[in-house]
Amino acid sequence: MPKQETSLLVNIGQLLTLRSPAAKPGPRRGPDLKELGIIKDAAVLCLGGKIVSVGTTKDALRDSWVKNTIKKNRKQITEVDCSGKVVLPGFVDSHTHPVFTTPRLIDFEKRITGASYEQIAAAGGGIRASIAGVRNATVADLASHVTHALEQMAAHGTTTVEAKSGYGLTLESELKSLRAIREAASKWPGTVVATLLGAHTVPKEFQGCSQKYVEIVCREMIPRATRERLAQFVDVFCEKVAFSPQETEQIFVAAESNGLAVRAHVGQLSETALEPLLRFNPASFDHLDYASDGDILQLAKHDTVATLVPGVNYFLGIKQYADARRLVDAGVPVALATDYNPGTSPTTSMPMAMSLACTQMKLAPSEAIAAATLNGAWALRLAGRKGSIEAGKDADLAIFDADDYREIPYWFGVNRCVMTVMNGRVVSRK
Ligand code: NIG
Ligand code: FE
Repeated sequence: MPKQETSLLVNIGQLLTLRSPAAKPGPRRGPDLKELGIIKDAAVLCLGGKIVSVGTTKDALRDSWVKNTIKKNRKQITEVDCSGKVVLPGFVDSHTHPVFTTPRLIDFEKRITGASYEQIAAAGGGIRASIAGVRNATVADLASHVTHALEQMAAHGTTTVEAKSGYGLTLESELKSLRAIREAASKWPGTVVATLLGAHTVPKEFQGCSQKYVEIVCREMIPRATRERLAQFVDVFCEKVAFSPQETEQIFVAAESNGLAVRAHVGQLSETALEPLLRFNPASFDHLDYASDGDILQLAKHDTVATLVPGVNYFLGIKQYADARRLVDAGVPVALATDYNPGTSPTTSMPMAMSLACTQMKLAPSEAIAAATLNGAWALRLAGRKGSIEAGKDADLAIFDADDYREIPYWFGVNRCVMTVMNGRVVSRK
């Protein structure tokens, strides 16, 4: 990886800092979700992979410390004239499944002719259709697929990615998937957080004896992934077609006793009772198309982030989206993610997820931006380093060809991101 650069971005039309409105701890909730902390005609100085100064261009160029730092680093400094464009924290895509080998085009066509997600899965499609490809692949094959996805994500403004295993479903192929994530992450300038999703679905070999598979997840996969430092989180698909709430608790107990944090796919196809899972302090609950009033009330009292993934509803043609307004207005911290995967959301574009959140879920553009940055960082327990543009945080920025931040979700289906800065490294698209 090249040495971290010193960079000075000037003449930023709108800098969305996402700095805290009133030193409130925890993820953004309710009306605070809209607060973008905008500075006009702004400048940002990055040094050693960190943001070191944020303010107006005029003030930055007058500040003696900034002037000295620029002088000292004159030879290696990358000066970027943002000529009135929008700069915001790089997106934090806190839910992706990038370790797969082939798109699921048969499922795609079947759905167009009316088959449901459950019907396709029952006929051998769905998650199980992605397993053979992963089991037969080498770490290097899988890593090249992950690298390709990471590069596409960065091209759309994403600088931090959560990446799950989950299409191998044997001890060895889940570990292989996590190693592929590690290999791809080591070559990418952005930040990757790995999640073990051994409990994605019950593999065919364990049909009718899911408990045996859950034991492999708990007794073999979680301890090995922990010992080899391959994952920071354990995820479970808690759903009628996958793992029961009891099995989810069992897996969470194993994660906890190995020192790994947890997150879960919940309420995607039917309601999941969330209260019993809250005692494990999950970093996030993802999907939440179905959620009871009682659980929403509970979530509003916790820092567990509700991660919404509208790309899934769009791609599966499900007209009913998660009720983002109800969640935000109740005080639940909401994040947005792509859920990049071959079955339900083959997109690497956070701006597309944001556009759907605005048009289909009725989030304001400002809310969608905070959900895709700062609250995504909370969902990965990285908010101390990521998600806002403040001195001391990692130098992760996205530069968009736009005069106004609302254009980011407005121009859908095209990519307006022209540059990213990832841990201080400037990566230009044009
Ligand atoms: O988040 N719900 C479980 N996992 C994915 C779907 C994975 C697949 O269909 O391959 C999701 O939607
Ligand atoms: Fe998912």
